[in-house]
Amino acid sequence: MTEQQSRSALAENASSPLDLEWVRSQFPSLSRKVNGHPATFLDGPGGTQVPQRVIDAISGYLRECNANTQGAYATSRRTDEVIAGARSAMADFLGCESDEIVFGPNMTTLTFAMSRAIGRELREGDEILLTHLDHDANISPWRALEERGVKIQFAEIDERDCTLDMRDLASKINARTKVVAVGYASNAVGTINDVKTIVRLAHDAGALAYIDAVHYAPHGLIDVRDLDCDFLACSTYKFFGPHMGVLYGKREHLTRLTPYKVRANTNAVPQRWEWGTLNHECITGITACVEYLAEIGTKHVGPGALTRAGERRSPDAAHSAAGRVRAPAPTRVEVLQAAYSAIQAHERNLAERMLCGLSQIKGLHLYGISDLSRLEHRCPTFAIRMEGRTPLDLATKLGERGIFTWDGNYYAINLTERLGVEEQGGFLRIGLVHYNTEEEVDRTLGELSTFV
Ligand SMILES: Cc1ncc(COP(=O)(O)O)c(C=O)c1O
Repeated sequence: MTEQQSRSALAENASSPLDLEWVRSQFPSLSRKVNGHPATFLDGPGGTQVPQRVIDAISGYLRECNANTQGAYATSRRTDEVIAGARSAMADFLGCESDEIVFGPNMTTLTFAMSRAIGRELREGDEILLTHLDHDANISPWRALEERGVKIQFAEIDERDCTLDMRDLASKINARTKVVAVGYASNAVGTINDVKTIVRLAHDAGALAYIDAVHYAPHGLIDVRDLDCDFLACSTYKFFGPHMGVLYGKREHLTRLTPYKVRANTNAVPQRWEWGTLNHECITGITACVEYLAEIGTKHVGPGALTRAGERRSPDAAHSAAGRVRAPAPTRVEVLQAAYSAIQAHERNLAERMLCGLSQIKGLHLYGISDLSRLEHRCPTFAIRMEGRTPLDLATKLGERGIFTWDGNYYAINLTERLGVEEQGGFLRIGLVHYNTEEEVDRTLGELSTFV
């Protein structure tokens, strides 16, 4: 194959649709039945299903490596390697170095830990800016610092499409602002925020930027270097992995800030932020979930793939003696990038189908962006209400037909209060991820239209 041929074959791959049959075959739970109906998992924002390799990695660890860390024997050494491997996988996933990755039980715990440490440096009159769009895990840990005299500000939203009011946000950042904590995407209404601009606004005022990427992570590639955020938290159980939290922190902050920790724990970065014994089996599963996503990418990676910063890879294709060209093996970062391009194309198609269908159902109100030309500003997460039905009623009826959705506020309580739906049971949330299908969207729309 000539270089030209090799490039066009790969380019074709890069634009090919997601191989949904292969994707779904990776997840054993997707073949479940409920009351004779195929189980339809539209509860991804609450936690996604896991591929078989994650299940195997977790049980394999418990079978073969189960031990505590730093011991002078085989299983303990293997445990140290497993943790180092997962740190490296998450570093590729987020676009940073391994020693900037902190593991913890979940995003909420990690955020409380970091907010307490940052709070040690704050004084009365200092300000923290939050938003009404956020999950409470990126609100309450910061509000807890009010006991130190810290003033909490909130950026407003535009209620018409549940987007952040960027003008209001910018106006509330000033010389007293020490932290701007904001979600990458809303777990209730799906809005994707302009996080890069928010980080810049925070930095211009000398404030730290703390990003909650829990909802965004299954839908879009994260590049912490490009965002330039100081911290970014996510949870692997939202992107096809085990129940764990991961925190990225710039090395300078993880080194300078003082964690609350036991004396015997090391002062090394990042372990000084990890307290007690971690969940080693789940950490093993994290590597497996990143590798699952990477495998999607290997089916889609194109030649001269772009790096995270958008630069072309160096053209170091190896020439064989026969003058043929072997494309350089793509890096894990590159295949992850290709995976997310394929995932996003598939999710946008599903989102368009869902939005068109929802708009046809009488008495149904959608909260969030509905404009099909703005799909890049939302995740395929839909918050709805229907006249004469509570969200719990809808979720229960759909659940009986094997369609799993959520009702309530999903801890995005500032938003449900702001929109006046908290007392009425919040919203029904339909959350799509890349393993969902057009048929599942149609079936859900069909069921919803029978509830009118
Ligand atoms: C946007 C968002 N942030 C934070 C959290 C909390 O994550 P964890 O359960 O890992 O603490 C969630 C959980 O639903 C979420 O959706």
